[in-house]
Amino acid sequence: MSEPGAAPSILAIETSCDDTCAAVVTREGEVRSNVVASQGLLHERYGGVVPEIAARRHLESLSPVVDDALERSGVTLEEVGTVAVTAGPGLIGALLVGLSSAKALAAARELPLVAVDHLHGHVTAATLAPQHLEAPYMCLVASGGHTFVARVDEPARYRVLGRSLDDSAGEAFDKGARMLGLSYPGGPAIDRIAGEGDPDAFAFPRSRPGTGLDFSFSGLKTALLYRTRDLGEAETQRRAADLAASYQRAIIDALLARTGEALEREGVARLSIGGGVAANSELRRRAAELGEEMDVGVSVPDLSLCTDNAAMIAGAARFLEPIEYPGYLDLDAFARSA
Ligand code: KG4
Ligand code: ZN
Repeated sequence: MSEPGAAPSILAIETSCDDTCAAVVTREGEVRSNVVASQGLLHERYGGVVPEIAARRHLESLSPVVDDALERSGVTLEEVGTVAVTAGPGLIGALLVGLSSAKALAAARELPLVAVDHLHGHVTAATLAPQHLEAPYMCLVASGGHTFVARVDEPARYRVLGRSLDDSAGEAFDKGARMLGLSYPGGPAIDRIAGEGDPDAFAFPRSRPGTGLDFSFSGLKTALLYRTRDLGEAETQRRAADLAASYQRAIIDALLARTGEALEREGVARLSIGGGVAANSELRRRAAELGEEMDVGVSVPDLSLCTDNAAMIAGAARFLEPIEYPGYLDLDAFARSA
C-alpha cells in the first residue's frame, strides 16, 4: 500500500529491444520497483537480437513482469495513477507489445497514458532517486543501441548535440570483443582483461567525423580487425589484454573528449552518464576525473537505471503531459526518432 495522501504512482512499461521491463515509480522519483526480464541468452546463438523472437517473448513475459513489478512495489493496480510506456524508437514489433498492454491497462481504468521516447528515458535516469539530478545538465548516453551527448535545460526535453554516425560505443565493445575471441556481451569482457593490459601498447584511431560533437567508431573497429589479422590468431591471443586495453582507451577517449567539449562549449556544470557502457570501469573513473578537472558534478546512476529499464521511462513520464482516456487508443509506436 502507498502512504495515505501520496500522489498516485506511475506504472511504466519498456519493451523497445530485448528486455521486458516494468517499474513502479512515485511522482517524486522514488523507484518502488524496477523489474527486467532479459532475453539475452535467447538471442545469443543468433549473434544479435532477432526482432520476431523478441516480440514473441515480450508477449509471454510482459504480464508476469508487470505483476512482479506491482507486487515488489507494494502498490496495487488500483493505486496506480498513470501508465507510461516507451513508444519508440526501437524494434516496432517489440514496441507494439508494450504499447498495446499499456493501453489496455490504462483504458480498463480510464487512466491517463504517457508515451515516452526511449532516449528521453536514458536522459532522465539521473533525475530519479537517489541522484535527483536537476537541470541544466549534460548527459552522455552510451549503450548497445545508441551513443549521444545531449543538453537538458528542462527535464521535459533534451537536445542532442552530437551522436554516433555509425556504430554505438556498445557495438564497438561487442564487435571488438568478438575479434579478440571474448565472450558476449563484449563490454564487460574487454573491461575485465583491459585491466591487465597496457593501454599504450597499440595505436588506435580516435576518429572525429566533422567539426561538431559527433562520434564515429567504425574506423576504430576496422583498425582492430586489421591489427588482429596482422598479428595472427596465436599472437592476438597472447596480446589480448594489451589489445583490449588500447582499444578500450580509444573508445573512452572519444566519448570523454566530445563530452568535455560539450560541457565547455555550453558552459554546463553538471553531467550524467547512462547506458550500459556506463558500467565500464575506465569510463567511470575518468568521467569522475574529468568532472574534477572541469569543476563539473558527475552523476552516474545505479547500473540498473543505466541499462534498459522501465523506471527511467517513468522518470521521463513525470515531466510529460499525459494523454487522457480515450485519446491514446489509436496511438502508434515509432521505430526511429523523427
Ligand atoms: O544499455 P544496454 O544494457 O542495452 C542497450 O540498450 O543496448 O547496453 C548494452 C551495452 C553492450 O554493448 C555491452 O557490451 C555494454 O553495454 N557494456 C559495457 C560494459 N557493460 C556493458 N561496455 C563496456 N564496459 C562494460 N563494463
Ligand atoms: Zn536503451
